[in-house]
Amino acid sequence: MEFSIVITEDGSPTLHHPVFEQNYHSINGAASESQHIFIQNGLDYWLHNNKDKTSIDIFEMGFGSGLNAMLTAKRAEDLKVNIIYTTYESFPISIDTAIEISTYFENSEILINLHQCPWGQAIKINNYFTIIKKEKKMECIDAINKFDLIYYDAFSPISQPELWTTEIFQKLFKATKNQGLLTTYCAKGSVKRSLKEAGWQITALKGPKGKREMTIAEKH
Ligand SMILES: C[S@@+](CC[C@H](N)C(=O)[O-])C[C@H]1O[C@@H](n2cnc3c(N)ncnc32)[C@H](O)[C@@H]1O
Repeated sequence: MEFSIVITEDGSPTLHHPVFEQNYHSINGAASESQHIFIQNGLDYWLHNNKDKTSIDIFEMGFGSGLNAMLTAKRAEDLKVNIIYTTYESFPISIDTAIEISTYFENSEILINLHQCPWGQAIKINNYFTIIKKEKKMECIDAINKFDLIYYDAFSPISQPELWTTEIFQKLFKATKNQGLLTTYCAKGSVKRSLKEAGWQITALKGPKGKREMTIAEKH
């Protein structure tokens, strides 16, 4: 499969998926979007509400370019917080594409390590960040009370409606610990209704550049 690289407004790269015909991140800034949705309103938000915790289990839907994972690995080191990061991906990109993307980032060696490390094993990327990549469909998730934080980064409900249903959000609800959090760029009404039906308590937050809103969902 041929993934093309697209340079976004903040200078960071994203990918274009040839089958789904979707970009992996916003054209208004890939790194700034990830930073806003997953780091600031995901990891930092959860840590703020769980000040006594020094370790966190994260599940990411869609490893993709590795951008979310790279920013999280960096944040783990900065904050000295232990992170176990489990990510599912059903269409992994090639190492060559990953190397090409990495040239646009200062932390290029982290991104390359994240892509080069084997699938299905727990691999330590730095002193605080361990990744477990699984070449699996996210629909297969069957964990129970395992994760503190979910990065829900599927392609849009228009291109993958099957990944934004009440049933999927129920699986993620089960997989999440009490006081856990799910964060997503999506603010669509039908998605918020599905999240609520699955038991999540939702809040609309200001979106990243070019997007009015985003959504966080909490398990209480
Ligand atoms: C919006 S992109 C994720 C971007 C990624 N988080 C990053 O930082 O680059 C969505 C990802 O989900 C993957 N994907 C699509 N369907 C999937 C499925 N059923 N299970 C797991 N991954 C899937 C795509 O291949 C793509 O990598």
